[in-house]
Amino acid sequence: MSLEISSLNVSIADKQILKDFNLTIPKGEVHAIMGPNGTGKSTLAKALAGHPDYTVNKGSALLDGEEIFGLEPDKVARKGLFMAFQYPVEIPGVSIANFIRAAVTARMNKEASDAFSATAYYKALYAKMDELKIPREFTARSVNEGFSGGEKKRCEILQMAMLRPKYAILDETDSGLDIDALRIVAEGVETMRGPDIGIVVITHYQRLLNYIKPDVVHVMYGGRIVKSGGPELALELEARGYGWVEKEFGALV
Ligand SMILES: Nc1ncnc2c1ncn2[C@@H]1O[C@H](COP(=O)(O)OP(=O)(O)OP(=O)(O)O)[C@@H](O)[C@H]1O
Ligand SMILES: [Mg+2]
Repeated sequence: MSLEISSLNVSIADKQILKDFNLTIPKGEVHAIMGPNGTGKSTLAKALAGHPDYTVNKGSALLDGEEIFGLEPDKVARKGLFMAFQYPVEIPGVSIANFIRAAVTARMNKEASDAFSATAYYKALYAKMDELKIPREFTARSVNEGFSGGEKKRCEILQMAMLRPKYAILDETDSGLDIDALRIVAEGVETMRGPDIGIVVITHYQRLLNYIKPDVVHVMYGGRIVKSGGPELALELEARGYGWVEKEFGALV
């Protein structure tokens, strides 16, 4: 079981961003992707989610053997792929509680959804909120509206914890988080990790990887993965920056 991305070419506004991108995330593993600004990390996440602005020119993404390119974004989510975006959208007028409930029941069949009582739902929701130290009054607030950067990130981890996806791609979940929030989010990810989920964390900071221990670290450069290794690769990047990657793989084009 894996999320297998192969020979992926993606362009936006006629500019090719991902170039023969290959990455396989086996279920049960946590992978980190690091790389300089503009190298295509968020493009990867958006293309996989089925964002209409991103054109997939070539390649495939198999989720446990099933192709997800060509599916509508909600179908991709139903197959069990979860995305936490760098800039989460605000959804005025939709409370967090209703939003998450709709997402959770959308993945159930009718029988299970009818049997999922409000009491059971709120019990599960509050338990996760307590774990993530999200105050309960947040349930009544509109999704992300007026949230601080850190609150948005915690809310995304809450969604992920409630949805229990098969694969999760977390884009810059560390940006805008204070030190305590960083730890809470990282611990949220750590408590979710296990044999039934594959997780990709896109990050600029080795710091996050002190809390989330990746099995594999990938360096992305010029629209593809140029190097993969263990957690020590993140330490190397932190110490040396990306200059050596450019020397080894040529300037970005
Ligand atoms: N709508 C657009 N029109 C033109 N170019 C775009 C558009 N959206 C993204 N790009 C370009 O695509 C490239 C890849 O962007 P992307 O957001 O994937 O980078 P990233 O690796 O996530 O960077 P960061 O580390 O800063 O988050 C960038 O050069 C960006 O300017
Ligand atoms: Mg990005």
